[in-house]
Amino acid sequence: MQITIVYGSSAGATQNVAEQIAENLSSHEIKLIDVSRAKIEDLQEAQILILGTSTWGDGDLQDDWDDFSSNLDSIDFSDKKVAFFGLGDQESYYDTFADGMGILYEKVSQKGANIIGNGVNGDGFDFGSSRAFVDGKFVGLVVDEDNQSNLSATRISEWTKLLESQL
Ligand SMILES: Cc1cc2nc3c(=O)[nH]c(=O)nc-3n(C[C@H](O)[C@H](O)[C@H](O)COP(=O)(O)O)c2cc1C
Repeated sequence: MQITIVYGSSAGATQNVAEQIAENLSSHEIKLIDVSRAKIEDLQEAQILILGTSTWGDGDLQDDWDDFSSNLDSIDFSDKKVAFFGLGDQESYYDTFADGMGILYEKVSQKGANIIGNGVNGDGFDFGSSRAFVDGKFVGLVVDEDNQSNLSATRISEWTKLLESQL
């Protein structure tokens, strides 16, 4: 199965997580693409997409994703399985925690995507508000490298197992 991972990363943390996800899914053919270099066709041609972003400003999408995001409107997601992962800092940004992932989720789910890798438990996180937290669950994998980097490898591997079961 071919899986396309598209990530946006300003300081490298999201890129590292994208690489770990790719490694965990290495039994599949993986395309790993930095969104700053992505073309619309990269997403259009994909059957299975994993979209990853960090959050910047006060609950904003990572800059390169922000530049690319208007392209999402012209993509038909109805034949695709799409999963999300997001990085954030729950201590310093308690009320906008991982909002970037929520923003991507809102855009793509409105376009009819078949969402996978969602329904993720928020246990172990301490945050006030997050656009990525819908009906009591995260819409994808959340990683906090700023405060809980010791938990990241386990979170990533559990999530990729969940994903495998939904491919
Ligand atoms: C100026 C600034 C603003 C940030 N704003 C948020 C935010 O609103 N919500 C959040 O969860 N994290 C926020 N973060 C934390 C980043 O999302 C986090 O450090 C992430 O790991 C960065 O990933 P990247 O290096 O891939 O861009 C912010 C960080 C900085 C430095």
